[in-house]
Amino acid sequence: MSFYDDYIARTPASAKAAQRAQAIIPGGVGSAIQFWPPYPIYVKESKGAYVWDLDGNRYIDYCMCYAAMVAGHADPVIAEAIAEQAKKGTLYGMPAVVATELAEEIQRRYPVIEMLRFTQSGVEATMYAVRLARAATQKMGVLKVEGAYHGASDVLMVSCAVPSNVPAGPPWMPTSIVESAGIPEGATKHTYIVQFNDLESLEYQLKKHEGEIACFILEPCMTNGGVIPPDPGYLQGVRELTRKYNVLLIFDEVKVGCRIAYGGACEKYGIEPDLVCLAKAIGGGTPLGAFGGRRDLMNLISPLGPAVHFGTYNANPLTTAAGLACLTKVLTKDKYAEMDRLGAKYAAGLKEIINRLGLPACVTHEGPLGGIQFVPEIPHTYRQANQCNKAMWREYWYGMLSKGVIPMGSGWFEEYSISAAHTDADIDETLNITEDVLKEVKKLV
Ligand SMILES: Cc1ncc(COP(=O)(O)O)c(C=O)c1O
Repeated sequence: MSFYDDYIARTPASAKAAQRAQAIIPGGVGSAIQFWPPYPIYVKESKGAYVWDLDGNRYIDYCMCYAAMVAGHADPVIAEAIAEQAKKGTLYGMPAVVATELAEEIQRRYPVIEMLRFTQSGVEATMYAVRLARAATQKMGVLKVEGAYHGASDVLMVSCAVPSNVPAGPPWMPTSIVESAGIPEGATKHTYIVQFNDLESLEYQLKKHEGEIACFILEPCMTNGGVIPPDPGYLQGVRELTRKYNVLLIFDEVKVGCRIAYGGACEKYGIEPDLVCLAKAIGGGTPLGAFGGRRDLMNLISPLGPAVHFGTYNANPLTTAAGLACLTKVLTKDKYAEMDRLGAKYAAGLKEIINRLGLPACVTHEGPLGGIQFVPEIPHTYRQANQCNKAMWREYWYGMLSKGVIPMGSGWFEEYSISAAHTDADIDETLNITEDVLKEVKKLV
């Protein structure tokens, strides 16, 4: 039996649940990323580093809801904060102090965030940050990185997952490829693409569109295309060039914020962007995002200024209480050191297995986020990562699933995410399983 067949054999209840869901929900899932063929597992419950599916199979989870569950699943401290707040009300439509407290905690971690606004999600955070940058500069151009995903808003749904067989233009000036039907031409007309870790590509586009560009939005450490950390000097160069060409710099820290370090990428790499987008970690497992940064820019947000930011659920007491408990009571500084230690141990273990088996693959990671890249050389750009041997990845994915590990998010371009709930025993168990699976993967070489 193949790993794929094993997976199907052990998940009949999920198959049934998928059939029922697919009759009423497109794909049977809430977001396309939650689907994988022939159906995903349907979850019964989760706790700490584990999830259980409807058939009662236990999985060590490294997807952790695409890196959002930094504290681990069903953390008791966060659950308690949610329960206490639910008793007092979940939505007021009027401000509550808990949102201010969470904003202050975020500011302690991110001195560059002088003011912020809360959203429900990362996609809103990036969309509003771009609107604000355009409002502040009165320019419409937006620069983004090829292969970077910033949420599915029209303006940024460009060149996020360029297939490797599609001509995507020269590396210094990648073509803008719109990735959804239903986006009006005008919405993406001003979205220009550069390559990650490539200052020449950035300067080429900045010069070509000089005077037109409002902002450069990027993940300071890429997490689409596996984890691709910035090359030494790259982010410093980005900051210098954006200043030179008078372009606002937006760090999309939706995934890496309060994740790869206590103060996220700003702290880790020592760079001061003009605006920062956050989500995932700051909500403690509830839907919460934020964008913030320079006070003079944030002063342009309504009702202080002309850039509109609205939302019935914004800064609601339920999600901000969960986020506050997560950041102040669970994700203390020592937890980051522990996640880093486990991240280093896991990456080293994976490398050792890959080297021993002589597999044409490598491992990239930044603290607790990382993954196996099924390419022989460490990638520095999305294009290089996209050379991934997809057949090998698929075998790895179903192999791990069929042996009780969700090794990463559900796509070759995703990553593993170690939470505060993972332990040495989890890593050891996972490495043993990985070795068995990779031995089979090697047969595809
Ligand atoms: C870097 C980045 N930005 C933005 C988003 C969109 O966030 P959300 O899914 O909360 O809308 C994601 C989602 O994974 C992301 O990884």
